[in-house]
Amino acid sequence: MPNIEFDLGEKRVFPPGPRAVQGAAISGMDAYHRLCEHARRDPDGFWRGLAQEHLVWKTPFTEVLDESDAPFYRWFADGRLNASYNCLDRNLENGNAEKTAIVFEADDGAVTRITYRELHQRVCRLANGLRSLGYRKGDRAIIYMPMSIEAVVAMQACARLGVIHSVVFGGFSAKSVHERIVDVGASLVLCADEQMRGGRAIPLKAAIDEALAMGGCEAVRKVLVYRRTGGAVAWDAARDEWLHDRMAGQADQCEPEWVEAEHPLFVLYTSGSTGTPKGVQHSTGGYLLWAVLTMKWTFDIKPTDVFWCTADVGWVTGHTYVCYGPLATGATEVMFEGVPTHPNAGRFWQMCQDHRVTVFYTAPTAIRALIKANDAAPETHPSRFDLSQLRILGTVGEPINPEAWMWYYRNVGREQCPIVDTFWQTETGGHVITPLPGATPLVPGSCTLPLPGIDAAIVDEAGHEVPNGQGGLLVIRRPWPGMLRTIWGDPERFRKSYYPVELGGSIYLAGDGAVRDKVTGYFTVVGRIDDVLNVSGHRMGTMEIESALVANPIVAEAAVVGKPDELTGEAVCAYVVLKRARPEGAEADRIAKELRDWVAKEIGPIAKPKEIRFGDNLPKTRSGKIMRRLLRSLARGEDIRQDVSTLENPAILEQLRVAQ
Ligand code: PRX
Repeated sequence: MPNIEFDLGEKRVFPPGPRAVQGAAISGMDAYHRLCEHARRDPDGFWRGLAQEHLVWKTPFTEVLDESDAPFYRWFADGRLNASYNCLDRNLENGNAEKTAIVFEADDGAVTRITYRELHQRVCRLANGLRSLGYRKGDRAIIYMPMSIEAVVAMQACARLGVIHSVVFGGFSAKSVHERIVDVGASLVLCADEQMRGGRAIPLKAAIDEALAMGGCEAVRKVLVYRRTGGAVAWDAARDEWLHDRMAGQADQCEPEWVEAEHPLFVLYTSGSTGTPKGVQHSTGGYLLWAVLTMKWTFDIKPTDVFWCTADVGWVTGHTYVCYGPLATGATEVMFEGVPTHPNAGRFWQMCQDHRVTVFYTAPTAIRALIKANDAAPETHPSRFDLSQLRILGTVGEPINPEAWMWYYRNVGREQCPIVDTFWQTETGGHVITPLPGATPLVPGSCTLPLPGIDAAIVDEAGHEVPNGQGGLLVIRRPWPGMLRTIWGDPERFRKSYYPVELGGSIYLAGDGAVRDKVTGYFTVVGRIDDVLNVSGHRMGTMEIESALVANPIVAEAAVVGKPDELTGEAVCAYVVLKRARPEGAEADRIAKELRDWVAKEIGPIAKPKEIRFGDNLPKTRSGKIMRRLLRSLARGEDIRQDVSTLENPAILEQLRVAQ
């Protein structure tokens, strides 16, 4: 057992857990501190050694980090490699050819296994198919597919050719897909006919048809469709083609395109505080290195492990910890099409038992939902399943409340498994602050300490570090290989969003508020400091939802704020002024439903406001600015103690106080 060398005062500390301690990649806090020290003292040697050891390069790099155009940092820039080669071919050479790469469980429980050799063949066939259509390095492909082996094949096939993929979560609407197709300038779309979730078929191809019909997508030459359900789809014979038809007869070997380390591997859209979603652009070399390192450091991945990350490939977690990290480390991973509550709330635990999962990674929201559901139906409770093979548990996407942490630790981990509460973002490429199994003493609700090489700190608005115990802005002071490189097509927005001049222009601003423990220096991330909401671990901008609402012809004005929610962490609360008189009673309910459905259509069901309150107008300052902090207090049901002397129309507060 590693030493617990911290005095954590009143807080309860948990050791990393016996099952994770033996031979962990970073074993004990001394090893952790040594690595941190190495990274600090000799960053060049530190990263050079890791990039040489953990990636296969076609052309070795000579320079590690080029800072000449900061904050547009370049890593390993003169090296060449291929991400798909590192995920697949490398395993064929390492003796993993017959090892199961993916255990896929469909919504209905059907299980498909695919070995590294088979996966490699399938990726090569699709890559050859895409090549035969003329797709080449630098082209962009939108992927709009359900959780499936085919989704991984699609991403890997793009990577093999140097085609830049942009995966869009299947829960986003046609309009959101359209926005992304246009912004990224896609010439290829890979989608499925439908997806299955909780026994229901949800159309995907239809949304693509709708998106392409909106105009501005003329660059899209082909839509390749994976036949998942066989449901009816409309067909444009000149443009649409079945994925299996295109792959049929293609050779199962495909020479990878060797790309420069800085070649974009993918662009993934995420919400910011203003405007439309930003296309976060990741590199090939640095990103893949970070995926591999964090698989090894945070999940201590070993050849015998069965790894299961429940995230959808439409989010960054599904990129790094479903598509790239597990394969690049030769793991066997579980992939799941469905939802945790179908056919019952024991599905996760049943699957952990059936597939002998050893490392399990999910979102706090899922845990919170299952606590309730498992209590209500005892036969679905984790105690009813054999989970003795689990050794590491993880969470991601939002703060985990100590109660949920304890439940997870006791009932799923049986007090034997450490919980790695991993803090990171679409932009960071992989974990940046997280406990290490086998090293870090755990404190529920804290993501503990930065990974080696991550120079995280908490600063005030002027960029000065604040003392421990005092809240501030979370920043990372030195570049790391997995960081985003820019915002697709908008370098100025990249600079403004992440490297503000107020902080000196070269320090990464995460956009989260955080505090460090007075004694241990442990980090706790409190939440976003901007107008970004986190609902069930899904990130969305208040502005996006407001724009969607005001696009409805009956809406005059809208303001959206977050409100704490027991289950989803945060919930969307919208204040709406209609162009007609303020509705009340049943009419208000009817219009609220109409507007919720409207938002689902404009953005996607995940963005639906939980609560809509109608007013004659919104609380504004005399200069016309909406006073959001008042709206936040109202949403929480708090008494207004703030200064309202600058408010133009104080009477409005009473009207907006109550939920309709
Ligand atoms: O607010 C933080 C929260 O999720 C945001 C990043 O969201 P996204 O880019 O969608 O990536 C989610 C998956 C990596 C962060 O700015 N967040 C993520 N992980 C944690 C967290 N908040 C607290 N604790 C975490 N472990």
